[in-house]
Amino acid sequence: MPEVEQISSQINAPVSLVTGAGGFLGSHLVDRLLLEGHQVIGLDNLCTGSLENLDNAMSSNKKFKYFQTDITAAFILPDLKCDFIWHLASPASPVDYRRLSIETMLVNSIGTKNMLDMAVEHNAKFLLASTSEAYGDPQVHPQPETYWGNVNPLGERACYDESKRFAEALTCEYHRCYCLDTRIIRIFNTYGPRMQINDGRVVPNFICQALRGEPLTVYGDGAQTRSFVYVADEVEGLLRAMFYENTSGEVINIGNPDEYTILEFAGIIARLCKVELNVVYKPLPPDDPAKRCPDISKARVLLGWEPAISLELGLAATIDSFVHKLTR
Ligand SMILES: NC(=O)c1ccc[n+]([C@@H]2O[C@H](COP(=O)([O-])OP(=O)(O)OC[C@H]3O[C@@H](n4cnc5c(N)ncnc54)[C@H](O)[C@@H]3O)[C@@H](O)[C@H]2O)c1
Repeated sequence: MPEVEQISSQINAPVSLVTGAGGFLGSHLVDRLLLEGHQVIGLDNLCTGSLENLDNAMSSNKKFKYFQTDITAAFILPDLKCDFIWHLASPASPVDYRRLSIETMLVNSIGTKNMLDMAVEHNAKFLLASTSEAYGDPQVHPQPETYWGNVNPLGERACYDESKRFAEALTCEYHRCYCLDTRIIRIFNTYGPRMQINDGRVVPNFICQALRGEPLTVYGDGAQTRSFVYVADEVEGLLRAMFYENTSGEVINIGNPDEYTILEFAGIIARLCKVELNVVYKPLPPDDPAKRCPDISKARVLLGWEPAISLELGLAATIDSFVHKLTR
């Protein structure tokens, strides 16, 4: 299997289109693709993203083009043949997808259809950024890709979970009906610089509360578990899934199997932020999963991938970025 570093030299002037380019993950992917020598087209409507995330890409690289557009509307790519479509656009945090519930369902349904059609038109390879939330509140642990999940189709999370499941099913149909070269990545909790301060996810919540000297909010009793993968590791997994040859039609978990209870995690954040651990407890939101942990055997075999960056190292970089954000 080729190493990711060698890919740019194997492909002549590849063009990548990234939806959700102004988001947390999308902007890191854009930076990495530019480093790999791709021409990159970024699409975003900035409903949860920010142009600031694209500062590097915009200022330092002529190979980056940005279009502010809602991908649920028709979009014609001007003058470029696109080789790879990375479909990341979608609100991703519970706060965002509750606030934008119908928009979330539309970007994952109509937006996904539009991007799949574009992939067919350009004969491009397609990657869908799906989610561990496709497993809902899982009854199998850890979750392998073969597990069908335990999702409440009528609950408050359904706008996200079910629309991602629809996006997965649609992607599979384009693979079957049009022989489109697709892969679906079920992304598990990813963290790192450029996360929004107020998106309600546990990493920015805990870090901002600790840095402000506030108690850390724990929902439920804190015994629920989560696993966390650093953004550079996640992006590496996405690249391998797109570029390695044996991934067409596959669905692959990319996440970190190291599990922490939320209370343990609060303790780690407090220690790294050099504050005493103080916790306030609030009721668990509806359908909050008790356990979430990827089985990454498939990623290990197909991609030779596993997380390389330790939680301490990743959190140190993330905390630095939040110190900078909060003191501006
Ligand atoms: N970060 C994680 O831990 C995580 C976990 C599982 C899945 N994912 C998936 O990865 C992708 C990126 O997540 P993220 O954490 O970077 O979220 P994010 O909110 O930071 O980024 C999503 C981006 O999509 C854009 N967008 C949303 N609707 C759009 C539309 N209709 N047209 C154009 N742009 C639109 C937003 O403005 C934003 O810039 C999402 O598809 C998400 O479901 C992320």
